[in-house]
This record gives sequence, structure tokens and C-alpha cells, in this order.
Amino acid sequence: MQPNESLSDRESASFFHTYKRLPLEPVCGEGMHLFTADGTRYLDMFAGIAVNALGHAHPRVVGAITEQAGRYIHVSNYFAQEPQIRLAELLLKHSGMARVFFANSGTEAMEGALKIARRWGGERGKTAITGFSNAFHGRTFGALSIMDRPNYRDGFGPFLADCSSLPFNDVDALKAGVGPRTAAVVLECVQGEGGIRPVTPAFAAALKALRSEHGFLIIADEIQSGAGRTGRFLAADHFDLQPDLVTLAKPIGGGLPLGAILGAASVAEILQPGMHGTTFGGNPVACAAGIAVLEVIEELGLTAHAREVGQYFLEQLQELATAFPARVKEARGLGLMVALELTGEADPVVSAMRDRGILINATDKTVLRFVPPLIVTRAEIDATVAALREVLARADA
Ligand SMILES: Cc1ncc(COP(=O)(O)O)c(C=O)c1O
Repeated sequence: MQPNESLSDRESASFFHTYKRLPLEPVCGEGMHLFTADGTRYLDMFAGIAVNALGHAHPRVVGAITEQAGRYIHVSNYFAQEPQIRLAELLLKHSGMARVFFANSGTEAMEGALKIARRWGGERGKTAITGFSNAFHGRTFGALSIMDRPNYRDGFGPFLADCSSLPFNDVDALKAGVGPRTAAVVLECVQGEGGIRPVTPAFAAALKALRSEHGFLIIADEIQSGAGRTGRFLAADHFDLQPDLVTLAKPIGGGLPLGAILGAASVAEILQPGMHGTTFGGNPVACAAGIAVLEVIEELGLTAHAREVGQYFLEQLQELATAFPARVKEARGLGLMVALELTGEADPVVSAMRDRGILINATDKTVLRFVPPLIVTRAEIDATVAALREVLARADA
């Protein structure tokens, strides 16, 4: 390292170039805000991509991590561990599912869910697994195999056999694309990376009816939408989808790496000792943090809050869409997964918002994505919308 080398030069010299980093180095966070070394304060409206449900440095999360780290940080999955069991019980209570497996990340939870589907289907002569266009399930081979977007897949094939992707929200294509050989269908009820696109009730109903007809598993990817963000514990609950498997990650470890597969009674006995496992998955410190997150969400009624302020946010964004028809295509969302789809590139707007002290995120090139902590207030939503109004009124951002 040279004495005057910038952080970005050092990063670029030492890392695979997988991330386009933002020109900002946070040194600490508190609640809804992140701070840089010079004391500049940013309103964080994307929460580490829908991870920090309680914002930054929530005292209950910090306390739970500290306390568990002082007891033991890792003992391995040879041992039953109270933090894992308590978090599993909470997840089952809120979801109504029957079984939990803890992984380290979202994509790893997806891999496990796909394995359960193959194992379940194998006994029934069903191996086909399908996802939907524009979906995002992670970066591992199983996840990529059921996705269709070239920017994630190009050059990494061949992918897993008997996997495909059908057009999202297209009932006729769904009817034609699934059948008796289908083991599982994987759905994000609100596509996150794909631009905050909710499934239509008609599509969800058709999927449920086709499951009854053909007997396949429905896997709900709730990695971004789960744990209260959409105003219900699972986004699938809005559509009465009753999935057989659910994948979770992002908020459930309080910012520490943690993923989970939840299984309904229909798949409860599929995995037996040795069939699946992990060294780190279900780390007790991450589970202790996750318990704090779920407890505080329940104590403060943050799921209902997400529903209410999310609806308010959406209405404000819809007003912007009406006020700036040349710049905005559509406002859409569910709970605190909301988006403003622009007619042009979203990155300049993200950067102009950052200049105004507000951190937002772009996805799918033209979509501004808002996935703030669930503790966000109406005043913070108002500040975000006011800044957006200013930025959209300017021709150059
Ligand atoms: C819906 C969804 N599925 C899967 C993933 C992958 O999760 P991870 O990045 O933890 O592997 C993400 C991450 O953004 C996601 O939003």
C-alpha cells in the first residue's frame, strides 16, 4: 500500500472486480442513518439491500450479538444450540411452516430448497424445476439454472439439467410449462432485483390450482420480501399461496450472514441425517441477532407499520409519477418494497440523491428501489420524496 493511495485504488488492486462500489465510505451507523469519516450523515433508504430491518446498531441486536459472542461463537452443528432453536421456533410461529434448515446466505438457502425439491420429486418421477423471467435467486448454479437474465448467466453454463424459466405473470405460459414431471416451481411474490414487480393475484391463484392438478412443490423465495417487509410475515401470505418451501435470508441474521429454508408438513421428512448440512449455517451469534430482530419486529408492530408507511410511500411516489410523466414510467410496490420505474437510467438519480444526503438504490437499470429499514418514519419518507421531486425536476439527473 502506498501512503496516499485511495481506498478505491487499493480495492481495485486487490479484489476481483465484481462490485461497482459507491464513492462513499461509511464509518458507523445509527438507526436510519449512516455516517462517513467527515461526519456527513446519510439517510439510509436501502438498508444494505433490505437487510437492516431495524436500521443500524440497534441496541437489542448489538446486545444479543455481544452476549452470545461472550458465551460461544461456534460449536458446530453436532450440537443442539439454544439460539438456533429459539430462532427456528419464531420463524415457524410466524410462517406456519413445519421445519427449518439454517444456511449462510440466500443463494445457499435456494440450493438447499432445490435439493429438497429434487429429492422429493425423485421418489415421484418428477425432476423438472422452473423459475420465472426476470427473477433473481442468487449466484450459485442451482439459482442461476432457473433464472433467465443474461447478465447473471452469460458465460457460466452449462447449468443444471431439467431447469427452465417461464414468463412471469403469464398464466397461459404457466399452464403450458408445468405438468406431471414438474417437481417444483420457484417464485418471488414480489420480484426484488428484477425491479419490485409483484405477482398478480390471478397468476398466484393459477399456480396454486396447477399444484393441486399436477402435484409439484411451490418454493417461495422470500429472501428479500420476507420477515414483515411487505406488511405480512411472508409476501406469499398476501396471495394465500401456502408454499411448500420458503427461503429466507437478508434480515433474519440482523446483518450477520444467515439464510433459512422453511418446509411445510408435505416435505418435513425429506431430509434425514447426512443428506444436507453446513459448517457455519445457523451460526449462534447470527441466530441471536435474528431473534432480537424478530422480537423487536413483533413488539413494535413493525409488520403493520411496513404495510401502512409502505402504502403512504407508494402514494407519494404515484404523485411523483403523475407530476413527471416524461421521467417516470410507473410507481409500484407492496409494503416497504417500493419502486419508481423511470423512463431513463436510474444511476444519475441515485447519485443526485446521494448528493442530497439520501441513499437509495437502482435495480434493473431504470428502477429506483426503496427497501428502507422497517423503522422508517413518514417524515423520512417525506424527506426522500421531496428530494426526489427536486432531482426529477432537473433535466440533467
Ligand atoms: C429474492 C432473492 N433471492 C436470492 C438472493 C440471493 O441472496 P444472497 O445474496 O444472500 O445469496 C437475493 C439477494 O439479493 C434475493 O433478493
